[in-house]
Amino acid sequence: MRVIEHLPLDTERLYLRRYTLADAAAIYRINSREEVTRYLPFGPMASEEDARSQLERFFLPAYERADAGDEGPGGLPLDFKLAACLKDAGELAGMVFVETSDGSCELGYTVDPGWWGRGIATEMCQGVVVLARRLGFVRLTAMVDVRNVASERVLAHLGMKPRRLAGGIGQGGEETGCRAWELEL
Ligand SMILES: CC(C)(COP(=O)(O)OP(=O)(O)OC[C@H]1O[C@@H](n2cnc3c(N)ncnc32)[C@H](O)[C@@H]1OP(=O)(O)O)[C@@H](O)C(=O)NCCC(=O)NCCS
Repeated sequence: MRVIEHLPLDTERLYLRRYTLADAAAIYRINSREEVTRYLPFGPMASEEDARSQLERFFLPAYERADAGDEGPGGLPLDFKLAACLKDAGELAGMVFVETSDGSCELGYTVDPGWWGRGIATEMCQGVVVLARRLGFVRLTAMVDVRNVASERVLAHLGMKPRRLAGGIGQGGEETGCRAWELEL
């Protein structure tokens, strides 16, 4: 069963949909903020053109492949990158994905800092958990920098369990710790 057949996905305050090229400005606005990429392996996005390029090179082709019937390893759905928009304003407030192209089923998420602390990450990820279950996923994983307290709170809200610690390298080359989380669906 394909992701597209379940979209837009409704939660209480949000609808989750595929991205279009028109989202480049919002993707840049969110990902160019230093506080957004602080605990991620890459730094702030440099330009709106970079956002457009990511959409053209990775997001949109994955949708096209999924529409053509392609699947990821183990028959996993390929087109699992979703924009979370506020129902009342239509504004793109969050980004959520499950990485399936490498078979990892790793959950990733980012919220516009203007909306932090209002349960948006928890709500959009809960929607994705429900969808993943419906699509036949057996597990979701996440890997988080242990300094990223807000992110670990989100995973705990989803019912994910902390599994193991691993070393990591921060953007400045410093040693960091990462924790692997897992949810059996
Ligand atoms: C992590 C992130 C997605 C959380 O988004 P959010 O919409 O604010 O999350 P929620 O409101 O659903 O929940 C946040 C939780 O973290 C807590 N929190 C937020 N900031 C915190 C901080 N600095 N220290 C401790 N807890 C914090 C909140 O109190 C809340 O927990 P609670 O519900 O138990 O009170 C957001 O901070 C973000 O986009 N960060 C940058 C990208 C990122 O790190 N993504 C995750 C990669 S693994």
